[in-house]
Amino acid sequence: MQHENSVIIIDFGSQFTQLIARRIREAGIYSEIHPCTSDPAAIRALKPAALVLSGGPSSVHDAGAPPLPKEYLEWGLPILGICYGMQIMAHTMGGTVTRSQDREYGRAEFEALGPCPLFDGVEDKEKLTVWMSHGDHVGAIPPGFARMGRTQSLEFAAMGDPARKIYALQFHPEVAHTEQGALILSNFLFKVAGLKPGWTMASFVDSSIKTMSAQVGQGKVVLGLSGGIDSTVAAVLLHRAIGKRLFCIFVDNGLLRMHERQEVIGFLEESFELNVKCVDARAEFLDKLVGVTDPEEKRKIIGYTFIDVFEREAKAIEGVEFLAQGTLYPDVIESISFKGPSAVIKSHHNVGGLPEKMNLKLVEPLRELFKDEVRKVAYELGMPEHIIWRHPFPGPGLAIRVIGEITGERLEILRQADKIVQHELLASDWYRKVWQGFAVLLPLKTVGVMGDDRTYEHVIALRIVDSLDAMTADWSRLPTEILARMSNRIINEVKGVNRVVLDISSKPPSTIEWE
Ligand code: XMP
Repeated sequence: MQHENSVIIIDFGSQFTQLIARRIREAGIYSEIHPCTSDPAAIRALKPAALVLSGGPSSVHDAGAPPLPKEYLEWGLPILGICYGMQIMAHTMGGTVTRSQDREYGRAEFEALGPCPLFDGVEDKEKLTVWMSHGDHVGAIPPGFARMGRTQSLEFAAMGDPARKIYALQFHPEVAHTEQGALILSNFLFKVAGLKPGWTMASFVDSSIKTMSAQVGQGKVVLGLSGGIDSTVAAVLLHRAIGKRLFCIFVDNGLLRMHERQEVIGFLEESFELNVKCVDARAEFLDKLVGVTDPEEKRKIIGYTFIDVFEREAKAIEGVEFLAQGTLYPDVIESISFKGPSAVIKSHHNVGGLPEKMNLKLVEPLRELFKDEVRKVAYELGMPEHIIWRHPFPGPGLAIRVIGEITGERLEILRQADKIVQHELLASDWYRKVWQGFAVLLPLKTVGVMGDDRTYEHVIALRIVDSLDAMTADWSRLPTEILARMSNRIINEVKGVNRVVLDISSKPPSTIEWE
């Protein structure tokens, strides 16, 4: 996408590349990631105002190490190289890179040297804590460059050529462990490159509405609403762009949480006047799931049934040409990544293939955004907190939280227990502090006592986790009084449950969901 005043990050495969983009955007400058294998002409066509060369796992001396195309150095753009980005810059521009036997990983004390705009306003710049993660290092800087910083083990921990506005750092300013790293990056954007901040979610909303109106013209768009933040924000944005030519389909698969349909969809219809068709497909899903206990089989049945129902409903809308999806920027980066799509465990989660199958053109209003930016857009669009901060909910819904066989009765027990978990998280103000919290119904019964009677009833597990991106997670350290209240209420209020247990496993090796 072409944006004025943007910074393009050339990705050499670092695990921190996405962080660089996020930090730059937080500073108010639009930033996009492109693989180092991109055609320089295509990058130039995007008219970036500056380039950042990311880190990466290679050594410049390896056969097949990704090169730095000379064109990038010829356009007169300000450039910041980070880690491998610094080394490949030195290697290409006439300096040398020394191989190291050992990797340097972790904190280091950095001393900024000489006048260097990157360190303007940085406090204690003679002993700044920075984060290192590298093997090789620059042994001699290229002609025209000056040394701008060192550490105990590195003679050249930063270098720069002020005349050409090209700078490089061996450490990672994008990582939170580097003190004042955000200021160092901002200095590159504002002091070196002279950019003016303009990337705000208000500006995104305006430009995205224009882009979508132009893309869709007078066409009709169909969108599957799940109740999650991504599809909801995509729908509200598109509605602003094309109004009633957006047709939302919400499939009630019988596997939703209590009151989900009313809370989310009712609200969207009333407050945003969205055109939503609620399809009651509960019987269709539940019939197909009778007797199914294998998690993968459950997921497949639900995925295929969803496609069938959605396709049927979409075809009933005359003349639909477009399918809208809430794809986010991390998914886009994954698919074009220099390393190739990484083997993310979440691959089974989403139903792909719909657009090709239905011969529709895709509209992806959120494909430039990170998740936190989607939430900001939601604020911008006037959406209420309870929608913006809803916990993620898996596509297969409660089917993968009723462990073992899914029956109407077991779903109802889980719904009631889950409602109590949600309620207690909200009432204690913990809802927003955790990533996700829910109940799981286990496929076993245990013995209990109730008055003088022996009971033999179901067990509920509480799964409440902290996470940043769902790729890793840890169980939340909730105050025990809250856990006690959840447990008491579930056992007292949910008929058929006489025991509650707490899941204290982290991901990995466990997953957040139980199936
Ligand atoms: P796991 O269980 O893999 O879950 O640790 C990671 C995150 O993804 C959610 N999840 C899903 N989301 N379709 C979805 O849209 C799915 O099939 C699915 N399975 C898991 C899960 O709730 C957690 O937030």
